[in-house]
Amino acid sequence: AFIRELSGLTTLEAKLEQMMDVEKVIIVAGDSDKETFVKQELGRAAVAFLKEIIKKDVTIAVTGGTTMASVANAMVPLNVKCLFVPARGGVGEKVENQANTIVAKMAKAEKGDYRLLHVPDPLSETLYQTIINEPSIAETLSYIKNASIVLHGIGEALAMAERRKTDDHIVEKLTSEKAVSEAFGYYFNREGEIVHKVRTIGIQLEDLASTDYVITVAGGKSKAQAIASFMKQRKNDVLITDEAAATEIVNQY
Ligand code: F6P
Repeated sequence: AFIRELSGLTTLEAKLEQMMDVEKVIIVAGDSDKETFVKQELGRAAVAFLKEIIKKDVTIAVTGGTTMASVANAMVPLNVKCLFVPARGGVGEKVENQANTIVAKMAKAEKGDYRLLHVPDPLSETLYQTIINEPSIAETLSYIKNASIVLHGIGEALAMAERRKTDDHIVEKLTSEKAVSEAFGYYFNREGEIVHKVRTIGIQLEDLASTDYVITVAGGKSKAQAIASFMKQRKNDVLITDEAAATEIVNQY
């Protein structure tokens, strides 16, 4: 704690909390764009925060991505009954970065339980209607909708579109509508307005309002604008980020 104060991280946290109107900001030293251990630190900070807040049995909904994968790597038993569920259906990630893989890994490390969502991506309207009524999927969806903690990553809009091998006409739309961030399959402009949404089942943005905690974990200087954009679109609870992203946000956004 002393080292953190000396290095100014505590001051930076307070500054960001005020600037972004976020209840709590936790900053780890360094830049996760440059050093992989910083991303691991983000994961560790997220697990430490979970340990602090979780006092009773909970359902935790988790998104995909490499940052969430590092949270899974850092997971330890939380000594309550935890159920981990993927926040949204397939959003085009590689297996190791898919929410399904991540929740299974978290549950194993935590000695908890998990449910998976197997949904094609993209999902057509007809299939969507059929799938949400499928009993096993409907059950998982009800766990997701009742999750009290949501743990998620943020990406840069165009980087995410590319990573998901998004159709050209959608990439064009994202470009012309100036999308800068992505989270939960939603793409946002710098004001935090939704400009596009991937059709899939699971958590919808409006569901976040009824959770106890929305924990956003995202770092790296390159994500500064994406983080600033996402944080604008709602009152967020907790942001866990790194020094490089935080400094860039304070200076630029
Ligand atoms: O695809 C899942 C997801 O959580 C996205 O919503 C987010 O933009 C991305 O992963 C973050 O990925 P990473 O942590 O690898 O930057």
